[in-house]
Amino acid sequence: MSEKDPYLLGYRHAEQQRLERQAIELAGESEWLFDQIGVSEGWRVVEVGCGPRGCLDLLSSRVGASGHVTGLELSKEQAETARRFAAGHHLSNVEVLAADARATGLATGAFDLATARLVLVNVPEPQRIVAEMVRFVRPGGFVALHEPDATFQRCEPPHPAQKRLLQLLDSYAQMNGIDRMIGLKVPGMLRDAGLVDLRVHPLVHVYPVGHGRRMLLLEFVENARSRLIECSLVGNDELDALTAALRRHLEDPATLVVSSLFIQAWGRVPELA
Ligand SMILES: C[S@@+](CC[C@H](N)C(=O)[O-])C[C@H]1O[C@@H](n2cnc3c(N)ncnc32)[C@H](O)[C@@H]1O
Repeated sequence: MSEKDPYLLGYRHAEQQRLERQAIELAGESEWLFDQIGVSEGWRVVEVGCGPRGCLDLLSSRVGASGHVTGLELSKEQAETARRFAAGHHLSNVEVLAADARATGLATGAFDLATARLVLVNVPEPQRIVAEMVRFVRPGGFVALHEPDATFQRCEPPHPAQKRLLQLLDSYAQMNGIDRMIGLKVPGMLRDAGLVDLRVHPLVHVYPVGHGRRMLLLEFVENARSRLIECSLVGNDELDALTAALRRHLEDPATLVVSSLFIQAWGRVPELA
């Protein structure tokens, strides 16, 4: 993985650990989504951008021994961690490919479901990933996305450091063709890709003191720190001052911390006429 890759969150060790934690934190809402779709025994499923764990275990237990789960992950290191996770949990129906979701080489129309969680919001050319997911799903099969509008997050009382840090991430994203509001757009992207029977489900959370996601914005800023500075968006000293000020504000139990707006959207590839 190139240091110059614009992928917003980067590949620091701390980020890999955060993703492993996130897989547990978000398991309940992904299970809900897979219930709505009816993912079951025998399905052939692809998880795009699975990171070190993603939903591989949830999907594995749903599709069972007669089904198959393919994890696709751009980072060779994350793919290797995901393989170790699958082996360590005896998920014998899971394989993980180190591959670019924009050009997977997977067979056309071969899968019952393609799903991605929190991938499109961090990458340029997200529509290429959606087009590829639609291509390798069979007629009548499903494409399911779970993406945020990451500009939505708030705290109350508001704090200028939060506003400035969000602006910095947004500026970096804009410079690199990354859309941090993509959550709101994914239903339209699925419709434009030709999917039918579209469903949309919104999620917003409040993160109390001690919650693993209360400091998420600060973790994202640390992931992007060197790139924000290299792009001359901010200096090291200003960034230190901003993060210290926001940390103090978020550590105060009186501060209400509200998440991004997450959108789960899913639909079916039309049946052949
Ligand atoms: C924020 S992480 C989310 C991981 C996992 N989906 C989850 O919800 O826990 C996004 C992942 O997408 C991967 N990714 C980014 N661009 C990709 C691409 N073009 N093809 C495959 N994976 C990609 C990143 O390497 C990263 O592991």
